[in-house]
Amino acid sequence: MSLDLQSLRAQFPILSQQVDGKPLVYLDNAATTQKPQAVIDAIVSFYTQCNANVHRGAHHLSDEATRRYEKARDSVARFINASAREEVIWTSGTTEAINLVANGLAFQLKQGDEVMVTEMEHHANLVTWQQACLKSGATLKVVPIHDSGELDMNAFDNLLSANTRLVAIPHVSNALGTVNPIQSLTAKAKQHGALVLIDGAQGIAHGNVDVQSIGCDFYAFSGHKLFGPTGIGVLWGKQSVLQDWPVWQVGGEMISDVTYQSATWGVLPNRLEAGTPNIAGAIGLGAAVDWFTALDMPAVQAHEQQLLQSATEQAEALEGLRIIGTAPNKVGVLSFLLADAHPADVGFILDRQGVAIRTGDNCAQPLMKRFGIPGTARASFSIYNTLEEVDMLFSALKKAKMMLA
Ligand SMILES: Cc1ncc(COP(=O)(O)O)c(C=O)c1O
Repeated sequence: MSLDLQSLRAQFPILSQQVDGKPLVYLDNAATTQKPQAVIDAIVSFYTQCNANVHRGAHHLSDEATRRYEKARDSVARFINASAREEVIWTSGTTEAINLVANGLAFQLKQGDEVMVTEMEHHANLVTWQQACLKSGATLKVVPIHDSGELDMNAFDNLLSANTRLVAIPHVSNALGTVNPIQSLTAKAKQHGALVLIDGAQGIAHGNVDVQSIGCDFYAFSGHKLFGPTGIGVLWGKQSVLQDWPVWQVGGEMISDVTYQSATWGVLPNRLEAGTPNIAGAIGLGAAVDWFTALDMPAVQAHEQQLLQSATEQAEALEGLRIIGTAPNKVGVLSFLLADAHPADVGFILDRQGVAIRTGDNCAQPLMKRFGIPGTARASFSIYNTLEEVDMLFSALKKAKMMLA
């Protein structure tokens, strides 16, 4: 198998449209990916053929909805190599998954305990722990990064101690593209008895996530960055950790026995999934995972690296462009500043040429402050982007440079 880009792109109806008479060049994939027809079909099919609530109906539609919904959980469990399907908890996304863990940990943290994050966090994996520490009296430790955007490994080692209760690190930085060595970082944290949470929002779509070989306790990701719908995501957690994790939302679906005075909780995964879930979302995410898994992963990864390499070479050749994030091990994310131009102006001019990028603080304000910049322009590539689109990005950037000089 290899990557047939033309037929791959044809599966994404949105990509064939024009913006202001120019072909759409969608390079905002780290914010959200586009959806293949297979995912759209799975959602439409749910609503047109078997819309009903799950786990509670005594009728055909509910049985079929439940079957598709739980099949999606199986797909996700297989995809990340969970050791049991019960370890896959549906959430609304990465943010909610991290909040679920933080909410439970806040009960256990006390003064003297430490939580470790890095300088490259998205706010979702920073503000959660900052607030959990503020509530509990624990201390937040922030591992510095080098100017390249790589984690300072010596600092990581030195900050770990017997007081470290949790290490929460991104698999991949959304702002810099850096891929962190999560397996070895997890092993080090484990030597100190810490729990490890991986923010996989950006890591999941770049292939080969195996939670058992990473060795972490939690891995969080969002469906919409993996060709699936918005409003659905996953908290994967080790069964031994999750089965006693404090429940954080209570109500229907998650109980075992209820009286007017008290309640007892059900078993995993339901005990952490209160209320009617996002059924269509889970089914859509299951379809996305099945679709993605069927691709030739080495070819996908090689293609993404080719896009990044071409973009990096053209960026280095464009005078006045400064790349933010130059780690050797990166995914297809190119954050940059164009001379003295404000990133928002660059984004605006690119948009007029059909090129969609992200501009701003990348939901990482402390990281931007660390670099002494207000934000960046960010082009992020996905498997359906082409080398021609990378060229179109740079001809649009050259135009922007002339207009803003
Ligand atoms: C590294 C990282 N973590 C967390 C998030 C939050 O994801 P969501 O908004 O889907 O919950 C994002 C989203 O961009 C991200 O890039």
